[in-house]
Amino acid sequence: MAKQNGFTLWLTGLSGAGKTTLALALVTELEARGRKVEVLDGDEIRTNLSQGLGFSKADRDTNIRRIGYVSRLLSRNGVGVLTAAISPYREVREEVRKAVEADGADFIEVFVKCPIEVLAERDVKGLYKKALAGEIKEFTGVSDPYEQPLNADVTVETDRESISESAFKIIAELEKRGLVSSKRAETAAV
Ligand code: ADX
Repeated sequence: MAKQNGFTLWLTGLSGAGKTTLALALVTELEARGRKVEVLDGDEIRTNLSQGLGFSKADRDTNIRRIGYVSRLLSRNGVGVLTAAISPYREVREEVRKAVEADGADFIEVFVKCPIEVLAERDVKGLYKKALAGEIKEFTGVSDPYEQPLNADVTVETDRESISESAFKIIAELEKRGLVSSKRAETAAV
């Protein structure tokens, strides 16, 4: 049985890159291995904890600090936290890493990488079309910055890998750190 130390697995990447999809796939796999997990998803957090915040740098930083704060509280109490927010600014991601680690939990930064051309083509929510037409201001990757991680713990490339390939790259990192048991339950879903 793996030790049940808490951790924060921080998925960062552009809108539509696959952060939420990956987080949900990971929940299934981690729960099948006996982990207690919680997901903090940007879109969802913005409807409650961060309701009213916009997309200026200041508001995004506030959003990320709030998600980081909750992640810290949960992960220091043995929960495995998966976050799925664009979190475009390197400095505030590093600030959250330090806070989580200062409380004795692992912080694992996962870069969910996908070229903007692919995302604009896929455009699941129809937002890239609007952003490219200038109808949405300050849209990440189009008219607002995204600072790629310089030293991500794991990088997944969602235009080249299946969800399950990406999920297992991340699980391998958790196994390496002793944060999840390497024995897969027979019902594992990804
Ligand atoms: S973050 O920058 O503060 O981390 P967060 O992940 O919470 O962003 O929210 C991003 C989601 O908000 C996107 O997936 C998209 O659905 C929506 N959104 C609306 N406006 C914008 C914008 N200007 N830039 C990026 N995402 C936006």
